[in-house]
Amino acid sequence: MTDDFHKIKKVMTFKELQLEIENPLSTNELNSLNELNSKLSNKGLSIKINNKSVKILLREVDITQLKSLSDYISRKYNLNKNNNPVKQIISKIESIKSYGLRSGKRKYVDYNKEIKVKNRKLKEVKRGKHYYTRNNFFVKENTDCPSEYINQIICGDSEEVLKKLPDNCIDLIFTSPPYNFGLDYSKKDDDYQWENYFDKLFGIFRECIRVLKYGGRIIVNTQPLYSDYIPCHHIISNFFMQNKLIWKGEIVWEKNNYNCKYTAWGSWKSPSNPYLKNSWEYLEIFCKGDLKKQGRVEDIDINEEEFKKWVFSRWSIAPERRMKEFGHPAMFPEQLVVRVLKLFSFKGDIILDPFNGAGTTTKVARELNRKYLGIDVSEEYCKIANQRIESTLF
Ligand SMILES: C[S@@+](CC[C@H](N)C(=O)[O-])C[C@H]1O[C@@H](n2cnc3c(N)ncnc32)[C@H](O)[C@@H]1O
Repeated sequence: MTDDFHKIKKVMTFKELQLEIENPLSTNELNSLNELNSKLSNKGLSIKINNKSVKILLREVDITQLKSLSDYISRKYNLNKNNNPVKQIISKIESIKSYGLRSGKRKYVDYNKEIKVKNRKLKEVKRGKHYYTRNNFFVKENTDCPSEYINQIICGDSEEVLKKLPDNCIDLIFTSPPYNFGLDYSKKDDDYQWENYFDKLFGIFRECIRVLKYGGRIIVNTQPLYSDYIPCHHIISNFFMQNKLIWKGEIVWEKNNYNCKYTAWGSWKSPSNPYLKNSWEYLEIFCKGDLKKQGRVEDIDINEEEFKKWVFSRWSIAPERRMKEFGHPAMFPEQLVVRVLKLFSFKGDIILDPFNGAGTTTKVARELNRKYLGIDVSEEYCKIANQRIESTLF
């Protein structure tokens, strides 16, 4: 079995694929598959079955290999197409035909036919990786964050506060800068000339990049100001790419709040200047030096269901409804922070929010057993952030 399986692995194409199908097996077949499973688990394939469903995790194996495996099992155990469970799984998979969501689960559909690119690896090499991140000067050695900055809410200008931190000492930054839309923050204006706004923001982000660990992540929640035709999410992303961070992706935070204008004044029902409506914001995700983050397996706290759901990068989460209660006009909903922290950080990691506001990032970080550092220029907001953290202690 081992030798044959090694042969199969030589033609591997995909790193990991998880399939879930309704269980097509009788009780006897189910038992024989269970027996087989223990032999396969070290070979990059695992099958979890119960009366309702069959879950197959293929690591570095694809459906072609699953077919070879099925042939092998037929020969080895003298099975035919009716009692070879792997064959049944394959025909079930093939009968589903296309990807789709059913009862909240992603179902497999004709995987190989969807893959149209041949010699993918060669083509990747030809295109060249790291188009905009080449020749970066990031140092790989990480530092411990000084103890006086751990689990703290600090009141001050982030650019100044961050200058006191050493390089490479923060695991993950999650933040939402002031939007410059004219909101009423307690201490700072929110209607700067765009040049001044971005100069200041980038001063703070430069410090963020410096203090971020090698392999650390920075995730910025932002949205365009449509009325000024300022695509903040593009401008901010461009800044991080120019500073050689790797763009890992973008999450659309669907807030489902449809209180948007229909039209620029004077162009109702006319192509002259229709106004595009939106009910979402963006989370732009960047990595410093490496897409892969180091961490211990025992410090992972995301479960299987959460992972499957949250890697689809459109998150439908209602806006925070308690902003009046906390006296802040632009707070994160806690669920947004929960997803970011569980998907992109490990327990024990140190999380920074340089625009911490009423402290949603730091509160959730505390609840999820991460270390935190929150900075905000407003004493009032820092007080609220501290109170929210204290409330998690009881
Ligand atoms: C969009 S809010 C962040 C809200 C936060 N995510 C929450 O859940 O409450 C932006 C925050 O940045 C703060 N701020 C503005 N300029 C700052 C600066 N230079 N340094 C630190 N904080 C600043 C504002 O006081 C405001 O609370």
